[in-house]
Amino acid sequence: MTHTTGSAPDAPEGVDTEKPSAARMYDWYLGGDQNWAVDREFGRRVEAIFPLIKEVARQNRQFLGRVVRAALDAGFRQFLDIGSGVPTVGNVHEVVAENLPEGEEATVVYVDYEPVAAAHATLLLERHGATGWAAMVQEDLRNPENIFRDPTTRRLIDFRKPVCLLMVAVFQFVGDDDHPVDLVERYRRELAPGSWLALSHLACDEASPADQAAIREFVDAYVHTSNPAWLRDRSEVEPLFGDWPLIEPGLTHLPDWRPDRAPNPLEAKARPFWWCGVAEKPGR
Ligand SMILES: C[S@@+](CC[C@H](N)C(=O)[O-])C[C@H]1O[C@@H](n2cnc3c(N)ncnc32)[C@H](O)[C@@H]1O
Repeated sequence: MTHTTGSAPDAPEGVDTEKPSAARMYDWYLGGDQNWAVDREFGRRVEAIFPLIKEVARQNRQFLGRVVRAALDAGFRQFLDIGSGVPTVGNVHEVVAENLPEGEEATVVYVDYEPVAAAHATLLLERHGATGWAAMVQEDLRNPENIFRDPTTRRLIDFRKPVCLLMVAVFQFVGDDDHPVDLVERYRRELAPGSWLALSHLACDEASPADQAAIREFVDAYVHTSNPAWLRDRSEVEPLFGDWPLIEPGLTHLPDWRPDRAPNPLEAKARPFWWCGVAEKPGR
């Protein structure tokens, strides 16, 4: 059920439109329209502190697209996208539909706990006629067992076969109290050998001192949203992959992971603010 707030998009029942949310702010960074005045106002404040925010959001989206294409080339036909966000251009099912070899089939499960992201994703999949092979599960990623048990997940994903697990731009919202290393391990152990884990994480350990100060202020600002954020450096991001070896080119900044072109000056400037990588479960 939805209600409309003036010129804002339809809000699923129970959505707090008074407090900005990371999902809806991210939608605004990416040029989407599934956000409210409170999200845009807060997004502009973040942009004033950290002017590269829209650029790093775009870089994450492009990383996601390159990973999905690489996974399809490697033979993956099952995708589990955790913290999938409000769907915008270049969603996983769209990249899959565009790049899947003729006559082949694939499945996609999106997971996000944000009601607007969930409602909009469901609507979009219906509009795309994709509900037979792609679906949304509204769940908190800190409950992996609920995600694995969910009937929608079980309908679309066969966990005896390799899965491409995507955790793009989401673990910066998982605090140390939620034990991120153990949490990712609870996902990794459910997956078949040969599965991939693609993960990206906000960072600043290779940024200039001035940029580090700006990004710390940006992270502090998120304390006032529904999603407080955490910065982690390379040595804290690497353990999230556990004992799965990273595939080429290893842990890199976003524009350096299997680039399909040279970065422009703005992209190069935003380069240090994220770590990303893809690891493969051994034993296939
Ligand atoms: C920055 S957006 C990234 C969206 C997408 N992965 C992408 O790269 O374009 C982070 C998303 O993670 C979701 N998220 C944050 N914490 C979460 C949690 N505990 N459980 C499920 N989703 C969560 C937010 O609602 C938001 O949609």
